[in-house]
Order: sequence, then C-alpha cells, then structure tokens
Amino acid sequence: MQFSHALLAALVALASAQSSATTSASSSQQSGCSQDIKVQSQSDLDKIAGCKKLDGSIEITGEAGVLSIDGIEEITGSLKANNLSTLNSLTAPKLTSVGKDLDLQVLNGLSTLSFPALQAVGNLKWITLPNLDVMQLNQGVNNATSVVISDTSIKELMGINVVDVGEVNINNNRYLKQIALGLQHVTESLQISDNAPGLEAQFDSLQWAANISFRGVSKADMPNLTYVNNSIGYVNNTIKNISLPQLTKVGGGIFFVSNSELTDLKVPELEEIGGGLQVANNTKLRKVDGFPKVKSVAGAIEMLGNFSEATLPKLNQVKGGVDVESNDSGFNCSSWNDAHSNGDIQGDSYQCSAKESQTSVALSATSGSGSASSSATGSAGSSGSAGTSAGSSAQASGSSAKKDGDKKNSANTLRGAEIVAGFGAGAAILIHLL
Ligand SMILES: *[C@@H]1O[C@H](CO)[C@@H](O)[C@H](O)[C@H]1NC(C)=O
Ligand SMILES: *[C@@H]1O[C@H](CO)[C@@H](O)[C@H](O)[C@H]1NC(C)=O
Ligand SMILES: *[C@@H]1O[C@H](CO)[C@@H](O)[C@H](O)[C@H]1NC(C)=O
Ligand SMILES: *[C@@H]1O[C@H](CO)[C@@H](O)[C@H](O)[C@H]1NC(C)=O
Ligand SMILES: *[C@@H]1O[C@H](CO)[C@@H](O)[C@H](O)[C@H]1NC(C)=O
Ligand SMILES: *[C@@H]1O[C@H](CO)[C@@H](O)[C@H](O)[C@H]1NC(C)=O
Ligand SMILES: *[C@@H]1O[C@H](CO)[C@@H](O)[C@H](O)[C@H]1NC(C)=O
Ligand SMILES: *[C@@H]1O[C@H](CO)[C@@H](O)[C@H](O)[C@H]1NC(C)=O
Ligand SMILES: *[C@@H]1O[C@H](CO)[C@@H](O)[C@H](O)[C@H]1NC(C)=O
Ligand SMILES: *[C@@H]1O[C@H](CO)[C@@H](O)[C@H](O)[C@H]1NC(C)=O
Ligand SMILES: *[C@@H]1O[C@H](CO)[C@@H](O)[C@H](O)[C@H]1NC(C)=O
Repeated sequence: MQFSHALLAALVALASAQSSATTSASSSQQSGCSQDIKVQSQSDLDKIAGCKKLDGSIEITGEAGVLSIDGIEEITGSLKANNLSTLNSLTAPKLTSVGKDLDLQVLNGLSTLSFPALQAVGNLKWITLPNLDVMQLNQGVNNATSVVISDTSIKELMGINVVDVGEVNINNNRYLKQIALGLQHVTESLQISDNAPGLEAQFDSLQWAANISFRGVSKADMPNLTYVNNSIGYVNNTIKNISLPQLTKVGGGIFFVSNSELTDLKVPELEEIGGGLQVANNTKLRKVDGFPKVKSVAGAIEMLGNFSEATLPKLNQVKGGVDVESNDSGFNCSSWNDAHSNGDIQGDSYQCSAKESQTSVALSATSGSGSASSSATGSAGSSGSAGTSAGSSAQASGSSAKKDGDKKNSANTLRGAEIVAGFGAGAAILIHLL
C-alpha cells in the first residue's frame, strides 16, 4: 500500500509519456472536446488528451489506480471523483483552470494528488482523503470561489492566495500543523477547526472577512485584519496571546471562550461591536483589559473567569444585558455598577459578582494573591448589591424575542456564539454526510 512517492512519480511520468505519444497522433482533430466524460480508465482520458480546453466535466467512476489528465489545460465544468477505493494517484500536469467544482471525496487510497499548474478553480472540495499527505499546487491557486479541505493527512497548507474567496473551511485534518494562506477578503466565512492540536495559522494579508472562527489552534496571526462584517470567535484553542492589532469594527459578535492557555488578549483599535462580547472560561486570563477603545456593544456582554480586572474604559452604550463574574477575590465591580446606574447598560439584565469571601481563601491560596480577605469582603459586598436581577443572565436574554428599538432590547445577545456553534455543526454535518 505504501508506495514510495518516487516510484509513483516515475510510474505517473511513464504513463503520461506513453499517453501523450499515442494521443498526439490520433487526436489532432479537436472533436470530442465538448462533452461530459465519465472516466473508467486511463484510456478514456487518453482520448481527450488532445483537447487543450475541455468544454464539459470529467467524472472519474472506474477502478483505475493511477490516472493522469494529460494535455488538458482548462476544464470549463467540474472534475469529480467520489467514493473510489482504488484510485491512488491523480495528476494533471498542465491543468490551469477548473471552472466549477474540483470535487474529490472519499478516496481512501489516494496518496498522490498533483496539479502543479493549477491557478483557478470554482469550488475546491477535498474531503475524506485520509492517505493524502502532500498537496502539490506548485503554481499556486489565485482564484477560487470556495475552499473546503477536510479529513485529509496533509501536514501543511500553502499555495492558495486568493484575493476574494467565499468560504474557507479547513477542518479535521489530523496532521495539519501549518496553514499560511494569502487571502485578502473572505465573503462568507473562514473556519479553521479540529486539525492537529496546536496548528499554527497565518493570514498575513487578510483585510476583512464576513465571519471568522478558530478551534484548536495555537496561533492565528491576522496582522492586517481591520473589519469583520459579522462574527469572530475563538473557542477551545491553545493560543497564549491573541492580538488583533488593526481590527476596528465587528459587525456581529466577538467571542473568546475556553482558550485554556490564553494569558493576553489585545484588540487595541476595536471601537464598535455589532453583536455580543463574550470572554469566558479562559482559565489563565487574569486581566480583561485589551479593549481600550470599545465604545458600543449592540448585544450583551458576558465575562466569566478568574480575572482581577475586566474593564472597558470607553464604553458608553450596551444595548443588551451584562453579566460579569469573576472568581478572583480581588475583582471590583464598581465600574460596572457605575455603568449600570448611569444607564449605559440598556439591557434588562445586569449582574456583576466576584468571589464570595468564604471560598476566596482557598482560591487566593492557589493564585497566590496577598490581600485576599479584605478585598474579598468588599467585593462580596458589591456583588451582593449588584446581584442577580431576577436570574436573567446574558445567556438567558439571548433567547428572548426581539423587541423594537428601546432599552428593553437584549436580543442579538449571543448570536455569535450560535454562529460559532453553527460552524461546528456545519462541519459535523459535512463529516456526517460522508
Ligand atoms: C461507496 O462505494 C461502495 C462500493 O464501492 C458502496 O457500497 C457504497 O454504498 C458507496 N457509498 C456511498 C456513500 O455512495
Ligand atoms: C482571477 O481573478 C482575477 C481577479 O481577482 C480576475 O481578473 C481573473 O480574470 C481571474 N482569472 C481566472 C482565470 O479566473
Ligand atoms: C465587509 O466589509 C468590508 C469593509 O467594510 C466591505 O468592503 C465588504 O463589502 C463587506 N463584505 C460583505 C460580505 O458584506
Ligand atoms: C496590509 O495592508 C496594507 C494596506 O491595507 C498593505 O499595504 C499591506 O501590503 C498588507 N500586508 C500584507 C502582508 O498583505
Ligand atoms: C457569515 O456572515 C454572513 C453575513 O456577513 C451571514 O449571512 C452568514 O450567515 C454568516 N455565517 C456563515 C456560517 O457564513
Ligand atoms: C478542545 O480541544 C482539545 C484538543 O486541544 C480536544 O481534545 C477537546 O475535545 C476539545 N473540546 C471541545 C469541547 O471541543
Ligand atoms: C504574551 O503575553 C504575555 C503577557 O502579556 C507577554 O509577557 C508575552 O511577551 C507575550 N508573548 C508574545 C509572543 O507576544
Ligand atoms: C464554562 O465552563 C463551565 C464548566 O466547564 C460550563 O458549564 C460553561 O457552560 C462554560 N461557559 C461557556 C460560556 O462556555
Ligand atoms: C478559575 O481557576 C480555576 C483554578 O485555576 C479553574 O479550575 C477554573 O476553571 C477557572 N475558572 C474559569 C471560569 O476560568
Ligand atoms: C466560581 O467558582 C465556583 C465554585 O468553584 C463555580 O461554581 C463557578 O462556576 C465559578 N465561576 C466562574 C465565573 O468561574
Ligand atoms: C472598588 O473600587 C472603588 C472605586 O475605585 C473603591 O471605592 C472601592 O473601595 C473598591 N472596593 C474594594 C473592595 O476594593
């Protein structure tokens, strides 16, 4: 089963040399270049090798092991192969463009995929190719409508440098540790989830994206990201520092949840949040002070954790509710209480609490804070006065129906969380369908 790559490459080269020799003689006439083709074996491909442009689609249906699409530079339709156990090598040395789908799914034996000249595709879908460990896109793809790569064994993903792309979804590639893509605008969503633990992702040229979601990464650099039209979420990652140095506006929600290693969170230019702001369960995050310019939050704010500080110094409007809970006994609710009494918090639920004094001793012992007992008493006091407004937390208000215009509107609340969850479900469905 484990052919060496060199051997395969040699076989492929031999096969293509032979086929081009036979076909160049027979197919100087261009008939047959305008049709949809089902490929059972290499000979079906040899018949069209004289076509530079195939006006139609190719679907691989047969039991072939090694296939080479020689001669053809452009396929106006799709190139598909689905649920074939025998196919182990597919190469297309001259192919520069596939108009519609490049759709390869459930090819358990496929270990060589080589499109060295490919530059443009419609929807690139490479799903359940468990033996594929190297992608050969030497030229670099610079046009694609969408890119979905799921359940392969590739170790790194590069060579996709598209100015405008719709969906990019890279998930469940168990060995994938490195992604560097030159995307500039993502019009639907960028989702990186559940690849090799600790995956490092880099999107140096990304300027805006409709939605962004990361799960299971240890790095996600987006130094040029200035705008997120809808939501951005980081859930269950091992990133230590999250920095979004240019991000100024988020049209929907922004979420940082269950990032176990996160110690530093900085979004220094962000002013406006069109949905909710959630910073929760980031066990090592001791200060939530990375939002110095946020003025308005159109959804709810939820901050849960062990932080000694959680501040939004420029905040003057929150349309939804606020729920701030810290298990650090030194946390002080007074600025949130002020914001609440000033009317800056318009949603009908408000809660701010710090660690109760009884249990604070144990907690401060582990966290090594010196002045546990005195501050704990104070903050317990403030939590008492602020506390539990009819038990309606930010989360609860998220499900409440939307009321028009006025202060009571706490809708929009955790829309982003739903979207993040939706991403997960989407990926799950995708996998499930297979
Ligand atoms: C895949 O192919 C096998 C036979 O090779 C068939 O039994 C199975 O139903 C196919 N699966 C799908 C999802 O088409
Ligand atoms: C690739 O995209 C650019 C714009 O981003 C466009 O000008 C060009 O025609 C596209 N090329 C192909 C082969 O689709
Ligand atoms: C997202 O925002 C950018 C910058 O404002 C804008 O140019 C782009 O059209 C928006 N994209 C979508 C899909 O709304
Ligand atoms: C970042 O954006 C600026 C302008 O918005 C651009 O000049 C620069 O080349 C971008 N950087 C990268 C790495 O794409
Ligand atoms: C992404 O954002 C757009 C609007 O900017 C929205 O319509 C869409 O539902 C969002 N979610 C996904 C998964 O694309
Ligand atoms: C979180 O990520 C770890 C790997 O880093 C994984 O084992 C675990 O299942 C994930 N948890 C959730 C809830 O996704
Ligand atoms: C990450 O944040 C910590 C705490 O603020 C800081 O000491 C460290 O230098 C940062 N590391 C990087 C790589 O930015
Ligand atoms: C935080 O973690 C707790 C316990 O693990 C869990 O019950 C809660 O739902 C989590 N909150 C969020 C917002 O993920
Ligand atoms: C607070 O810290 C404790 C101990 O480090 C940890 O078990 C707990 O999950 C943390 N809570 C949150 C919400 O991060
Ligand atoms: C604080 O600690 C208590 C008891 O360990 C736990 O039930 C609660 O979820 C924690 N809250 C936060 C915000 O971590
Ligand atoms: C909380 O902060 C306020 C304002 O800075 C201060 O007056 C109050 O004493 C503090 N409470 C505690 C318990 O430190």
